[in-house]
Amino acid sequence: MLKKLVAVLLVFLAVCPASFGWGHEGHQIIGTVAEDHLDETTKVMIQSLLGNSHLYSIASWADDVRRERPDTKAWHYVDIPMGGKYDASRDCALPDSCVVLKINDFLKVLTDKNAKRDQRAEALKFIVHFVGDIHQPLHAVGEAKGGNGVRVRFLGDDRCGRYECNLHGVWDTSIILHTALNRQEYGQHLEELIRSQKLDSEDGGTPEQWANESQRLARAAWVQDGANLDENYYQKEIKLVDRQMALAGLRLAKLLNDSIGKMTPRDFASARQPNVPAQISPAPPAQAVGEASSLIGMGNRRF
Ligand code: ADE
Ligand code: ZN
Ligand code: ZN
Repeated sequence: MLKKLVAVLLVFLAVCPASFGWGHEGHQIIGTVAEDHLDETTKVMIQSLLGNSHLYSIASWADDVRRERPDTKAWHYVDIPMGGKYDASRDCALPDSCVVLKINDFLKVLTDKNAKRDQRAEALKFIVHFVGDIHQPLHAVGEAKGGNGVRVRFLGDDRCGRYECNLHGVWDTSIILHTALNRQEYGQHLEELIRSQKLDSEDGGTPEQWANESQRLARAAWVQDGANLDENYYQKEIKLVDRQMALAGLRLAKLLNDSIGKMTPRDFASARQPNVPAQISPAPPAQAVGEASSLIGMGNRRF
C-alpha cells in the first residue's frame, strides 16, 4: 500500500509542472548558490528566524501558498511592456503590486526590529523566492502573460510533463530539467561559472534594475506561438538561464548580507521573541558572529 502511494506521488512529482516562477528546481538552485555566499552573521540571523540556514529548503514556499493566498499571485512578476522600461505607476500599481515593490516591502519588514518574528520569517521566505523570480526573464514581461500564452514544442515534444509546453514553462522548468544535474551538481556548476565569468562583480543593483535587465533578456528569448525550440535554442538559452540563476543567488546573498547581516544582535533579538521587548543590556558589535550567536541562543556553531 505504502509502495503504491509512494509510486503515485513520484509519478505526480514527475509530471506536475512547476508553473509559478522558476520551478522548484530553479528556486532551490538559487537558494543553494546564495547560501554559499552568505556572511557568517547573516547565517546566524537566518537560522534564528527559520530554524536552519538552508535557503533552498524554503525557496519555493511562496509558490506553495499561492492557492490559499490568491492576493499574493501578482507579487511573483512584473508586466513591463516588451521594449519598455519599468514604470512603477503603470506596471506595479496597487492593489496587486508586483515583484519589484514586494522585494522592497519585504526587506523593510525583515529589518524592522518592531515587527513580529513570524512576519519577519515570512518576509525572508518571500524575499528568497522573489529575488529568484525577478531574474527569470519572462517574469518581467507582460506579453501573453509572460509567455504562458505562447505554445511551443521543446526538443520535438509538445508535452512538458502533464501539460502542453508553453514558452514560460520551458524557461521556468524544462530547460533546467534537461541538464539532468541535481541541486548540488548544479550549485557547483554555477560556482564555476561565477569564478570563470567573475560574476561577483555584478552582485549589486536594485530590484528595478534587475527587472529591466530581465525584460531586455526576455526580448531575445521570445518566440512566436507554435515555435519549435530545438537543440540550438536550448544550447543558446541554457547559458542565459545559468547566468541568471547565478546572479540571482549572488544578489540575494548580498541583499541579506547588507541588511540583516549588518543588524546588531540586540535589534535582531527582538525578532526572536515577538511580544517581549528587546534585551536592554549593552549589545556587542554587530559583526562579531560569536557574540551574535550567543545572544540569539545559537552557541558558536558554524554552518
Ligand atoms: N501572469 C501575468 N504575467 C505574468 C508573468 N510575466 N509571469 C508569470 N505569470 C504572469
Ligand atoms: Zn514565483
Ligand atoms: Zn514562472
